[in-house]
Amino acid sequence: MCGIVGYVGHRVARQVLVDGLKRLEYRGYDSAGIATLEENDFRIVRSKGKLALLESKLEMQSFSGGVGIGHTRWATHGKPDEINAHPHHSKDVILVHNGIIENYRELKNDLVNKGREIVSETDTEVICHVLQDNIDAGLKFFDALLKTISQLRGAFALVILHRQEPQKLYAVRSGSPLVMGKGEGENLLASDIPALLPYTNRVTFMHDGEIAELENNKHTFYNFKGESVVKEFQTVTWSLSQAEKSGYKHFMIKEIHEQPRVVGDTLSGYVDRETQRVTFDNETMEVLKSFGENDKGRLIIVGCGTSWHAGMVARYWIEKQARLPVSVELASELRYRDAVLDKDTLIIAISQSGETADTLAAIREAKRLGCKVIAVCNVLASTLAREADGILYTLAGPEIGVASTKAFTTQMVLLYLISLTLANLRGYLSTKLMAQAVQELIELPAVMKAYLRANEKVLSWVPHFENVSSCYYLGRGMQFPVALEASLKLKEISYIHAEGFAAGEMKHGPIALIEEGTRVVVIAMHDELHEKIISNIQEIKARGAKVYAITDSVNESLETACESVIVLPSVSQALKPFMSILPLQLLSYYVADAKNLDVDQPRNLAKSVTVE
Ligand code: AGP
Repeated sequence: MCGIVGYVGHRVARQVLVDGLKRLEYRGYDSAGIATLEENDFRIVRSKGKLALLESKLEMQSFSGGVGIGHTRWATHGKPDEINAHPHHSKDVILVHNGIIENYRELKNDLVNKGREIVSETDTEVICHVLQDNIDAGLKFFDALLKTISQLRGAFALVILHRQEPQKLYAVRSGSPLVMGKGEGENLLASDIPALLPYTNRVTFMHDGEIAELENNKHTFYNFKGESVVKEFQTVTWSLSQAEKSGYKHFMIKEIHEQPRVVGDTLSGYVDRETQRVTFDNETMEVLKSFGENDKGRLIIVGCGTSWHAGMVARYWIEKQARLPVSVELASELRYRDAVLDKDTLIIAISQSGETADTLAAIREAKRLGCKVIAVCNVLASTLAREADGILYTLAGPEIGVASTKAFTTQMVLLYLISLTLANLRGYLSTKLMAQAVQELIELPAVMKAYLRANEKVLSWVPHFENVSSCYYLGRGMQFPVALEASLKLKEISYIHAEGFAAGEMKHGPIALIEEGTRVVVIAMHDELHEKIISNIQEIKARGAKVYAITDSVNESLETACESVIVLPSVSQALKPFMSILPLQLLSYYVADAKNLDVDQPRNLAKSVTVE
């Protein structure tokens, strides 16, 4: 999941490229590079490690060219070092790539047998030489490009410079995201919107099977047959400041504090605050209606990581309110499991980025078998949004921190609205009770804000967690997936081996992990399972665990059993996951920050997993 940018225009490309890469660095950051046109020739500068290292190299050189490409890498083929950093080149071609070429070994063998010298371990450099081979075979550049595309298998977004056409940029999209931005006397390409925002908010999303040919005042699009295609431009409503830290130390802590607002914004997008009615668009309502009336209907929720956890919370709502059996599937498993999917199955696919390869593959397989798909997604016109039968956007704004936070709570908003709608359509929830439930949601952001404004107590937990090598999170019912999500957050950014368990499951094995001083965070919200969770606390305390509890009603047994208790403002039963996750997001943030780790760009991770 690399970040790629391209620029052609009146500015000095070097600065535009580096700024763009900075806004895409959350996508991958183990090496970086740019290539720009300088005095009629292309200069390539690359470096291992963070973008800052590339910048220090660039400072030693002067740049004036107005055409260039750039890349920040998440290694798939070839270890993270300078030789494998992009751009890669051949005699006439320089390019950057996001994706994986699955048949690169066969192609490489052919090229090497033809005597071509390939210096890196990457699949990307192979593309350069396949293209060069077609050029040297006498094909015009565009025809050589079309032929090269037909020889590649896998996922690729490419931005290409051609030495014989120095004032042009070429781009190719097949499986990995690419957006084109149209400016005044300049045109840009990038893997994601934030890199374009300083220059334009007029964008068009390239679709699979498309090629772009850009000059500073001209843009032409083609399909893979070489026929020209007309593209619509859209205006992005995200502001530049939304894509910046606004005074916070890290994007993650900023995004945690944005949750009350973006939960409110997402609600405003899909409920009428006057009538408390849900206002899904017609396509989505049609899909939900026909599904709601189908007694043979099966509902499958699919996603990865945090999105999967949001789906697990939703199962509790939908089964309870709409009396529908729900299965929640990991996309990377569902796509290969030969599951029983058919026209009576409705898929709810959840993805912040809308570009996660496993989730895309799972819905394509489901659609092939006749399923309808409703997508819950955060990125406008992303691949998932375009391929689904119904799309509901979480209006969270750009989520830059790799550890997902505001996407989780805004996903839960839409999943809760889907649950209420299905319950109403199936006659289990009256319109009056539905309006009440919507009103509770409308009042939720203020309660979230009240807690986030006064969240100091979680800071007192940090010294007890920052030096441990492992710890556990326990929850019951809807709080079980919240425990999973909390442990994922701590794992991702603090590198502590944290695990979430269904509290009732501890005595079936995991309790063997508990010894004197083991840190355990227990989500003990006041619900029908509170007594059960108290006895689970007693079980682990008896074996030496140091228990830290999250609750929304103080009681003596909890106070005496725990090292410390965080008491949250109370909300209705169904909405408690929106509150319990907040101190747990903060705990993971403050622990990682106390360990001076790179909170926004944790090691080995990337924001959008666009490869298998
Ligand atoms: C969560 O913090 C992680 N970044 C990761 O697990 C993420 O949730 C997963 O990769 C799914 O991403 P998506 O929502 O963009 O599909």
